[in-house]
Amino acid sequence: MALKQGSITTLSVLSLLPSLLFQACLSVTEGLHWDENGYVLYCPCMGRFGNQADHFLGSLAFAKMLNRTLAVPPWIVYRHHIPPYTNVHVPYSEFFQLDALSAYHRVVSLEDFMEKLAPTHWPPGQRRAYCFETAAQRSADKKSCPMKDGNPFGPFWDYVGVNFDKSVLFGGLSFSSYHQLQWMKKFPPSEHPVLALPGAPAQFPVMEEHVGLQRLVVWSDRMVTEGEEHIAAMLTRPYLGIHLRIGSDWQNACRLLESGDAGPHFMASPQCVGYSRQTALPLTMTMCLPDLAEIRRAVKLWVKKISARSVYIATDSVAHREDIEKLFEGKVKVVSLHPDWAQTDLYILGQADHFIGNCVSSFSAFVKRERDVHGRSSSFFGMDRPRKANAKEEL
Ligand SMILES: *[C@@H]1O[C@H](CO)[C@@H](O)[C@H](O)[C@H]1NC(C)=O
Repeated sequence: MALKQGSITTLSVLSLLPSLLFQACLSVTEGLHWDENGYVLYCPCMGRFGNQADHFLGSLAFAKMLNRTLAVPPWIVYRHHIPPYTNVHVPYSEFFQLDALSAYHRVVSLEDFMEKLAPTHWPPGQRRAYCFETAAQRSADKKSCPMKDGNPFGPFWDYVGVNFDKSVLFGGLSFSSYHQLQWMKKFPPSEHPVLALPGAPAQFPVMEEHVGLQRLVVWSDRMVTEGEEHIAAMLTRPYLGIHLRIGSDWQNACRLLESGDAGPHFMASPQCVGYSRQTALPLTMTMCLPDLAEIRRAVKLWVKKISARSVYIATDSVAHREDIEKLFEGKVKVVSLHPDWAQTDLYILGQADHFIGNCVSSFSAFVKRERDVHGRSSSFFGMDRPRKANAKEEL
């Protein structure tokens, strides 16, 4: 009951916020002018927040590489088990500061692009979709980009009121800098002002050279306020933050490792085994799916190391709160919030005095990258001393 109440309150705050933000940003958006160098639009259509965040960093780098403004998409949040029982499109600026991205490259929110620029410069009737020939193979006529086929594709473009009129297919190109000139030659902005793509023009997981772009992803004031309130109310510093990714879908995924169908590079694992395939460390089952014994071992070790007075657990499943509490005979407070929005967990984990994450999880990877930006320590279950990231700076 209490949970339901909370979700309704947060939701109504979220639905109210765009109008508030709109007011605040009026001065900025009034000055929006068309970029002759063109735009990149994409749907963050693969995976949940962690994957979308990985893709976002790569897409930002891609837009900069082509010197096109990035139309920053909303986050797609899948709320199928809680109200409103559907996909929710949350504008980027609800969680993070849009302005912070401008230090690196030109951006506009997709919402503003549609509202302020599209009516004049990208009107209905002229909306072309761009995709790989192989993607078009899936369509009925084999010549159309599958922009709105199925979920989340259809609801995403419906959210911004876009139908596509024509498809432009390409092949023999990748999103890496290797093909920069080919992209520019093939799609000059004078003839192709808006590159609208069915998915992110980026790799998953994020490439090593783009990991450092995480520094541009700065929490919105609202998230900071809410997160700090939770920390003050529930936790005593120093506190240890842990991410338990152990739900049933994850158990299935990790089985691919056990059966040998996945190698050391499995989802977000380059963050801890290293990005080079040649020198990657082994990825163990414990790193993918820590059992209770490993969870206890790692928590005990790090609580002692940082003299933690509390432990914060974020999880997609059971929190093992009591099992962990027992380890410390009541001397360490163990808390799990199960917040309405996963971003609250991300914020609290980011602020912890130490973080133990899941090596394979992109949700953990978001936290790890953010902590690296601020010089905060992290480890993984099954790996107390992760390989040092040597992400090259991109600026
Ligand atoms: C990149 O685009 C901006 C804005 O359109 C423009 O002012 C700038 O000259 C472009 N840079 C290059 C290298 O083309």
